[in-house]
Amino acid sequence: MTSMAGMAGFWQKLMGGGANSSDATSRRVPNVAGAVPAAPLAGLGVDMHSHLLPGLDDGAATLAHSLDLLRELRALGFHKLIMTPHVMGDFYKNTPEGIRAALSELREAAAEAGLADVALDCAAEYYLDEWLGRKLAAGTELLTFGGERRYLLFETSYLNEPFNLNTIIFELQAAGYQPVLAHPERYTYFYGRFDDLVRLRQQHGVLFQINLNSLAGYYSPAARHVAEKLIDAGYVDLVGTDAHHLRHTAALAQQTVKTAYLRKLLALPLLNASL
Ligand SMILES: [Fe+2]
Repeated sequence: MTSMAGMAGFWQKLMGGGANSSDATSRRVPNVAGAVPAAPLAGLGVDMHSHLLPGLDDGAATLAHSLDLLRELRALGFHKLIMTPHVMGDFYKNTPEGIRAALSELREAAAEAGLADVALDCAAEYYLDEWLGRKLAAGTELLTFGGERRYLLFETSYLNEPFNLNTIIFELQAAGYQPVLAHPERYTYFYGRFDDLVRLRQQHGVLFQINLNSLAGYYSPAARHVAEKLIDAGYVDLVGTDAHHLRHTAALAQQTVKTAYLRKLLALPLLNASL
């Protein structure tokens, strides 16, 4: 049995580095908060993408980590978190039952810790793989958010475009789901192909969710560039923290909230407040 740390390491490699590869970036984050107002993300209010649920993926490993992250997101101004653990056939075979059990555990711990003023809910971040295709074909329950709008958050490999991307999108829609592509700015296979990326939203009806830390260049300069282009074009529907660990929340608090593009992003007709 592979350890959770080992799986996380492999996951990072598979996904082309990912958040942990930017440790160098987070070390450059200054320790001074600067002239940032209290609760700078209160206007957004709802975060719909994070990995706070304990022990399910490469996010919070323990309940204590979950509570640390919850405190940080609360201080940033969020009053509701829809937490979205990875679901991936090879590594994170999370089920709706397991995810809901972790949610109950965290809700209870948050109430005991005096953090009950943040509403906690769950969905999932589905990796587009064969496992998802099989679940879809079998009509197995997939976790969504947004009530009857049935928003389904999904991601793909960062490096390779899935051969069946459009087919799966169509099948999700045919099954009554509204696909939401997590962090479209992070897929390197779309770099230099902005029109192809945009076609997913404009022609195939996929909603786009940007990661807040992309605005600070946390993941890469290229991801920041694509995020800014999407914001300039108004092709952003939802915004998430994708918080896995305290380096993410530190970057949010110390870098992202100071970016010029954050104001531009928050001026778009985002769906977050409606969740
Ligand atoms: Fe994520």
